[in-house]
Amino acid sequence: MIIIDFIILWIHIFSAIFFVGGSFFIWLVVVPASFKITDDEKLRTRIVGLIGKQFALFTDITLAILVITGIYNTTWYLNYDISNLFDTQYGLTLLVKIILVGIMIVVMYGNNIYHGKKIMNLAREGKFEEMRKMRKVSHFFSYVTLGLLLVITILAVALQFYL
Ligand code: HEM
Repeated sequence: MIIIDFIILWIHIFSAIFFVGGSFFIWLVVVPASFKITDDEKLRTRIVGLIGKQFALFTDITLAILVITGIYNTTWYLNYDISNLFDTQYGLTLLVKIILVGIMIVVMYGNNIYHGKKIMNLAREGKFEEMRKMRKVSHFFSYVTLGLLLVITILAVALQFYL
């Protein structure tokens, strides 16, 4: 059983590296670099939008893997007793992590689906002033997502200190 726990925890950590690393890469590398690629706002939005779309294919999968493997990790982490989730400090830390993951998923997909589509459409129609306003709102929610990811990883490390 130990070997299965080991492999599943590794898959969980590798998915977290990919998901968190990729998300920060988009914001710290792809977006700033896109301004150096072209001054054409329409083209730039299309480039960043397409890279984001391509990355989203993998984030959908890695997020699903994170949730499934996370549930598996939870079984041994709570000593196979779900009441430990509410009655112990390590359980409550995990509970906060799970709630934050839920909030992060809602904020991320809500932002991508609602604002992402609007920005792409406004860029296609050449309505750049409206697009810029919409992008500011969308960026705010993206930074909230990144902030939540930071806190989730801090909580993930905190879980180690109860073992
Ligand atoms: C964005 C989503 C998530 C990220 C980035 C993430 C990140 C991580 C990381 C980096 C670790 C390794 C911690 C360590 O060993 O020091 C970990 C472990 C763990 N995660 Fe997650 N996780 C996510 C989602 C979840 C979910 C949804 C659950 C539960 C349903 C969960 C439950 C656990 C458990 C129980 C452990 C084992 C704790 C330990 O090794 O001490 N995770 N997670």
